[in-house]
Amino acid sequence: MTDSKAAPKAGLEGVAVADSAIGKIDGSVGELRYCGYLIKDLAEQSDFVETSALLWDGELPNESELESLRNEMKAARALTPLQLDLVRRLAGEQQPMDCLRTVVSACATGNDVLTADPVINRERSIDLTAKLPTIVAAYDRVRKGLPVVEPRDDLDHASNFLYMLTGSVPDAHEARMFDTCLVLHAEHGFNASTFSARVTAATLSDIYSAITSAIGTLRGPLHGGANTAVMNMLLDIGSVDAVESYVDALLQRGEKIMGFGHRVYKVVDPRALILKQFASELAQSKGEPKWFEMSQAIENLIKARKGLDMNVDFYSASTYHYMGIDADLFTCVFAMSRVAGWTAHVLEQYSNNRLIRPRSNWVGPDARDYVPLGSRR
Ligand SMILES: CC(C)(COP(=O)(O)OP(=O)(O)OC[C@H]1O[C@@H](n2cnc3c(N)ncnc32)[C@H](O)[C@@H]1OP(=O)(O)O)[C@@H](O)C(=O)NCCC(=O)NCCS
Repeated sequence: MTDSKAAPKAGLEGVAVADSAIGKIDGSVGELRYCGYLIKDLAEQSDFVETSALLWDGELPNESELESLRNEMKAARALTPLQLDLVRRLAGEQQPMDCLRTVVSACATGNDVLTADPVINRERSIDLTAKLPTIVAAYDRVRKGLPVVEPRDDLDHASNFLYMLTGSVPDAHEARMFDTCLVLHAEHGFNASTFSARVTAATLSDIYSAITSAIGTLRGPLHGGANTAVMNMLLDIGSVDAVESYVDALLQRGEKIMGFGHRVYKVVDPRALILKQFASELAQSKGEPKWFEMSQAIENLIKARKGLDMNVDFYSASTYHYMGIDADLFTCVFAMSRVAGWTAHVLEQYSNNRLIRPRSNWVGPDARDYVPLGSRR
């Protein structure tokens, strides 16, 4: 349908498109809550598996619920032969997010894929959240010519990912930091990728299609792809001394600086402050302050030149770099976390569904008669 007289809201800015009880953002004061709980409290006191349960069920699990969820997640980590075979085939040819998108799409098997049943889809949410780290780690190992590392069920979610990626059990403090990064990225209201997941689910398509849509949407540099772009910028700049001239040249060319600005936050993003702290700590413990110092110099410069605050992607770049994760995997790490939020939104969409079908204003030519090929100039 077209022909509305009302002016469209570019980028749907400020438009509420649904009721939701999952993530609440107050951009004016820099506050983020999952199901009512402050992100700072979850970052300090919860972990990724527990936070996933909160997002899926709306309540924190009790001890036995949490224990059984941890076990279900562990049991779902291993890839099927088809999934692993796909990773092996794609790793040499595709970029990480392309491989992740394809393998997640291939997780949909069987005749009952197309169901909105909440119990089945909660199980699928667990399955996808458990498997994404295994796909990402296997991808990285295969492309580097290293043997794929099987998941270990005596390791927690974050430690197991870092173990599958590097082949070594990580330091407990660093694994806890990484787990907190997953908590911080798990949910963020109606961001672009979550919205695309909900649009897909609202046709009563399946949860795998919805998450595949979301991964494709997250990939762009205006969304999840920004963290990889931030790291590439840091690598390109190379030293603290070169920050000012590099950034000023970008600004003069009218280019955006990745990791700054936000559609919703009008003050600094609370997650970015926690990530800055992590990057600072890792800069010390790794004895390599350069990446943190460059980041700080860029942060101060963008604030002074443009009045813009950093967003969640900015210090996640140096944090993951210090943890030894390759820059082109950063957006996959974001997806490994956000899959909990995406699936929670798909469950919410199915629970009270209506097809999402907006309209546009017609700005094309007036009605006209078809011109046969031979009569065209
Ligand atoms: C996040 C983002 C897409 C939000 O976009 P938006 O709400 O559509 O805001 P706009 O792109 O219209 O930006 C508004 C103004 O701020 C400027 N601006 C916003 N982000 C900027 C950035 N990162 N660097 C330089 N200028 C920026 C724009 O140029 C624009 O200025 P103008 O009004 O003089 O033209 C945008 O800030 C951006 O592209 N940031 C960089 C990518 C990024 O870090 N994405 C991750 C988000 S978590």
